[in-house]
Amino acid sequence: MNRVREILEWYVEAGVDVLLDEKPIDRFSEPPPPPRQPASRKSPEQFLAQRETTPGGSTGKNPTQTPTTNSPAGSATIPDAAAIDQARELAGSAGTIEELREILSTFEGCNLKRTAKSLVFADGNPEARVMLVGEAPGRDEDLQGLPFVGRSGQLLDRMLAAIGLDRTGVYISNVLPWRPPGNRTPTPQETEICRPFIERHVELAKPKFLVLLGGSSAKTMLKTSDGIMKLRGRWNSVTTQQITVPALPTLHPAYLLRQPAHKALAWRDLLNLKQRLG
Ligand code: URA
Repeated sequence: MNRVREILEWYVEAGVDVLLDEKPIDRFSEPPPPPRQPASRKSPEQFLAQRETTPGGSTGKNPTQTPTTNSPAGSATIPDAAAIDQARELAGSAGTIEELREILSTFEGCNLKRTAKSLVFADGNPEARVMLVGEAPGRDEDLQGLPFVGRSGQLLDRMLAAIGLDRTGVYISNVLPWRPPGNRTPTPQETEICRPFIERHVELAKPKFLVLLGGSSAKTMLKTSDGIMKLRGRWNSVTTQQITVPALPTLHPAYLLRQPAHKALAWRDLLNLKQRLG
């Protein structure tokens, strides 16, 4: 019995904290779910079909293109440059934040969707002057379908309160809208296929200021390989296809839970934001 307990504890430590079923399920051999796209909008499948005939698409002859491992329907997909272009086209077709949510909810181009329970799109006030961007949902966020509702979210709420803000005064989203299984680090491919959506999200929300929570968010949004300790506390800017927004990278609340001594640095960053907000 003790052995079973040890094995279960080992699983939990490794991040396997949710049992999906009593028997293992091979998600990669399942057929894809039926499209739930409104008739008027191009479905991801239509985009993919178009790609087959587009020069430079995965079946095109563009030699500079990233190699692709796109495999038969239902199996794992590694997005190539053309898939990312199409995700960008799809994201760009959203005229409102609600449309973007709709589009993401039917987007099948990211493998993370297959293991996640929910689409974690956003929380807070989309009209707020400040938009916070985290890395990816964790277990609690996946269960509730909202960003930053677990332990790190509670710390984030306290950090915001310290400068007089709450979720009615900020808008919150993540680079990735689906939880990576076991909270593993997202792959660069998963990040790149989701990038067009968070960039479009920023364009549609039009925040005056972005706060990038943690190294992963800061590196992705600022397109840099610099570490968070170098980036944090210095105003930078996020440039999408349509806008440029001042952006302040800071430490991720989950990191602060593990390294409370660094809360002083985050506090400095928050004061910096407060001053900028006037
Ligand atoms: N960590 C994140 O980066 N985002 C969340 O939504 C929760 C935890």
